[in-house]
Amino acid sequence: MGIVGVDIDHAASIIANGGIVAFPTETVYGLGANALNPNAVAKVFALKERPSFDPLIVHIASAESITLLSSCNDPRVFQLAERFWPGPLTIVVPKSTVVPGIVTSDLDTVGIRMPNHPIALELIKKSGCVIAAPSANKFGRVSPTRAEHVLKQLPEVDYILDGGRTTVGIESTVITLDEEGFIILRHGAITHSHLAQVLKPSGAHKPLKGLASPGLLKSHYSPNKPLYIAGETSKPIDPSRAGYIAFGKKPEGNYKRVEYLSETGDMVEAAAHLFEKIHAFEDSDVEYIVADPVPEVGIGIAIMDRLRKAAYRYK
Ligand code: TXA
Ligand code: MG
Repeated sequence: MGIVGVDIDHAASIIANGGIVAFPTETVYGLGANALNPNAVAKVFALKERPSFDPLIVHIASAESITLLSSCNDPRVFQLAERFWPGPLTIVVPKSTVVPGIVTSDLDTVGIRMPNHPIALELIKKSGCVIAAPSANKFGRVSPTRAEHVLKQLPEVDYILDGGRTTVGIESTVITLDEEGFIILRHGAITHSHLAQVLKPSGAHKPLKGLASPGLLKSHYSPNKPLYIAGETSKPIDPSRAGYIAFGKKPEGNYKRVEYLSETGDMVEAAAHLFEKIHAFEDSDVEYIVADPVPEVGIGIAIMDRLRKAAYRYK
């Protein structure tokens, strides 16, 4: 039997027995282990080559699991869960003692989310576990939106549950709460204005102390070839050697290949295609990638965050 398949029972028993399964969520594929089994979680860090300072998100299938994982009974957390779960929102809350330190990089908080994907929810339920999962890519590389992308980077995983292409295409919005309201730690498809319909934003514009979200490094999502943002690079570009990721209109110049994030300039569609197109160019014969910037409003903030991090090494 190959390691890529659609057998949820098999995947669930691997998780329950301390193994590692890559699985689809609505955002990107996750690399999952039983969150309450430190040895299993250690295998995730090893496989991903992830530094131990970068904590994992714990995925749940029922809001009742909040009280297992967290010592917090802040009604705002339940309000957010009610409104946005299942969905692409991770809420960082004070952790309970059952969560092993390896999951949270010894922080006293834990990030929790209920993914909006039937396979992910069934896997969590059938395994009987809450599942710690980072995105299923090697540390610092491009997140996977297809089972094939996982196989390319992590062929050593015990099993890859194939759920086809993910729909949201970029990772969840990560937030924390202070006395005043919410603070966005990582931008995603659930935007500031979505959150503001439920809760006040924190007025705290003061920078958060230390590494508030340790995964927020300047370089991330790096393709295996240079990526430049059009209009933001001084590097000379030879279109005949480059792949172009266009947002709406056709690029000027005779590019070797052109892929469109959205031909109609739809930003939700653009987010869904972003990693997909970067993976396609990684696997193609172009020498480097040029990408259109998108307007930095709404989900465009999350798209530009990913693009800038992907381009950071090649500035
Ligand atoms: O959409 C997603 O969030 C995907 C799918 C698989 O759920 N997961 C994902 O995980 O993107 P990962 O590990 O690639 O990114 C998790 C982010 C990191 O930036 C990490 O620092 C932050 O969440 N995070 C996790 N726990 C945290 C905590 N206790 N405090 C602050 N930030 C935390
Ligand atoms: Mg990641």
